[in-house]
Amino acid sequence: MSAADRETWDARWSARGVELSEPEAFLTDQATRLAGGGRALDLAGGSGRHALWLAARGYDVTLLDVSPRALEAAGSAASARGLGLSLLELDTDAIDAGAAAFPPGPWDVILCHHFLWRPLFVHAGATLSEAGLLLFAQPTRVNLERHPRPSARFLLEPGELAELAAPLRVLSLSEGWRASGRHEAQLVAARHGG
Ligand SMILES: C[S@@+](CC[C@H](N)C(=O)[O-])C[C@H]1O[C@@H](n2cnc3c(N)ncnc32)[C@H](O)[C@@H]1O
Repeated sequence: MSAADRETWDARWSARGVELSEPEAFLTDQATRLAGGGRALDLAGGSGRHALWLAARGYDVTLLDVSPRALEAAGSAASARGLGLSLLELDTDAIDAGAAAFPPGPWDVILCHHFLWRPLFVHAGATLSEAGLLLFAQPTRVNLERHPRPSARFLLEPGELAELAAPLRVLSLSEGWRASGRHEAQLVAARHGG
């Protein structure tokens, strides 16, 4: 990611202020699967709406994001709620470039909501715990039929998620128009042999 991209995200998170939006149903609908606690990684987790939902359920959560402003907001929200949260400022491009490591597992949950980073699935296969879960949701190109954003470079091709998920054992995978109004691909997956 360029410095300009980072500034764009920082500016967006500054403009949104400290108010946390609600966690997405994609995550909260998985509540029965997410009762075990353990270590959770919220990748590109923004200002923490999902990380804090997981922390409130007893997970020891690391929130990774490139934006210092997002992390600052997440840290304040965690303190205000009396919840612990580990904050990790990291650009996934640095992982791609070999300049940084994917955060070491084992992870009992890896969540990635609305951030398309295709190497994630290989890293998840290598770092999920035996019973760990990857939860991933991202709009597809079909979303452009109703919404101009996210633009095409941030969208999955229809059917692409099934290919990306090959390093994992798919527990559920679906694509379609959601109650949110977005056309989204959603995946819950585990490690092969787990
Ligand atoms: C659409 S927001 C989603 C935030 C959060 N997952 C949610 O659903 O509320 C995308 C997030 O990705 C982060 N991001 C963008 N590029 C990144 C990169 N290269 N490495 C890490 N985080 C990045 C942004 O700062 C932003 O918080």
